[in-house]
Amino acid sequence: MSSKPEVVLGVSGGIAAYKACELLRRLTESGHDVRVVPTDSALHFVGAATWSALSGNPVSTEVWDSVHEVPHVRIGQHADLVIVAPATADMLAKAAHGLADDLLTNTLLTARCPVVFAPAMHTEMWEHPATQENVATLRRRGALVIEPAVGRLTGVDTGKGRFPDPAEIFEYARRVLARGAAAATADLAGTHVVVSAGGTREPLDPVRFLGNRSSGKQGYALARTAAARGARVTLLSANAALPDPAGVDVVHVGTAVQLREAVLKAAADADAVVMAAAVADFRPAVYAPGKIKKQGDSGAPTVELVRNPDILAEISGERPRVGQVVVGFAAETDDVLANGRAKLARKGCDLLVVNEVGERRTFGAEENEAVILAADGSETPVPYGPKEALADRIWDEVALRLGPAHAERLP
Ligand SMILES: Cc1cc2nc3c(=O)[nH]c(=O)nc-3n(C[C@H](O)[C@H](O)[C@H](O)COP(=O)(O)O)c2cc1C
Repeated sequence: MSSKPEVVLGVSGGIAAYKACELLRRLTESGHDVRVVPTDSALHFVGAATWSALSGNPVSTEVWDSVHEVPHVRIGQHADLVIVAPATADMLAKAAHGLADDLLTNTLLTARCPVVFAPAMHTEMWEHPATQENVATLRRRGALVIEPAVGRLTGVDTGKGRFPDPAEIFEYARRVLARGAAAATADLAGTHVVVSAGGTREPLDPVRFLGNRSSGKQGYALARTAAARGARVTLLSANAALPDPAGVDVVHVGTAVQLREAVLKAAADADAVVMAAAVADFRPAVYAPGKIKKQGDSGAPTVELVRNPDILAEISGERPRVGQVVVGFAAETDDVLANGRAKLARKGCDLLVVNEVGERRTFGAEENEAVILAADGSETPVPYGPKEALADRIWDEVALRLGPAHAERLP
């Protein structure tokens, strides 16, 4: 028997089946033993040979192959995670009603592990009351249904129903595997949280800007995990070259001044504001409308800088909503904890996530380590690990501070 986590990748007959190949690659390359169970319709889009070669496992759509191994029961029983991606409207209906007329639907009935559906279909199919009721039924029973993305659908149409980016689904699956049943706990349900991510760019002239190395990955991980825990999420993204997380409202901004405006607007009804974006402290005093030229053979221009608004201090002081929890980040290169404590006191936020950064540390990496400092004096070290894991620890600390009003709103 394999010691790797066993994942069943169910693929139903949507045009996005080809994107599930990338999800499969990510799962196998990160050490999972993946058994692909397509439907007959899915094989119209991607053939069994592709699934078998990419997974290294046999592929069948029906219960009548290898009957001596009783696959219609065994595959589901042994799985650590079942993920159906894409999940068609038809597959959601079958799963909601407990039908079992092929190998995938049988597997869904025998699995006792977390089950994730990543639906993809045209907007009309997604919004149809039948589909919505089936999704609600599945969620009520504990299945995790990822909200489809908004964007280009098959052909020229756009709208809600797009298959989320495979990297997003992979991160979601990895999180469910790491946290098990806890991942299904919607402890942020009923809340609105605002997350800033990326790094601001302060334009100097039409071709140049002052920027920083922040990739936005930590902020995006925060947005994804909050959405997975049931929050309504507004992600304020400053120049991050990352796909929009599924089920998250994304607002794109460029400069610190634009970010400030977006934060103040979104924070008006927010229960928590997490400022993970790297905001430039300074910007050029003057924006040159034409490209700045070299000054003769050896000269160089002098750039005067002015201070940018301190968004974290402003939001911490104002708290547009009573009981709002404000979280800041401190990226430090030395004297990390002492600088972090001083910053927490100076800014007036509830939590400050302190991490050490450098050219090859943290920025752009998939992993991170940090200490979460709290205004009440507590310190929570989070060991080196995926940015998703740090994000979850931050939301744990936020959830503790949301107070009784939030507890009453929980389903
Ligand atoms: C070209 C094409 C694309 C399709 N794309 C989707 C889709 O994205 N989502 C969906 O729910 N159904 C889609 N369908 C319809 C399904 O294939 C159909 O409902 C089928 O019965 C699903 O079977 P399954 O759920 O067993 O895989 C598509 C059909 C065709 C011909």
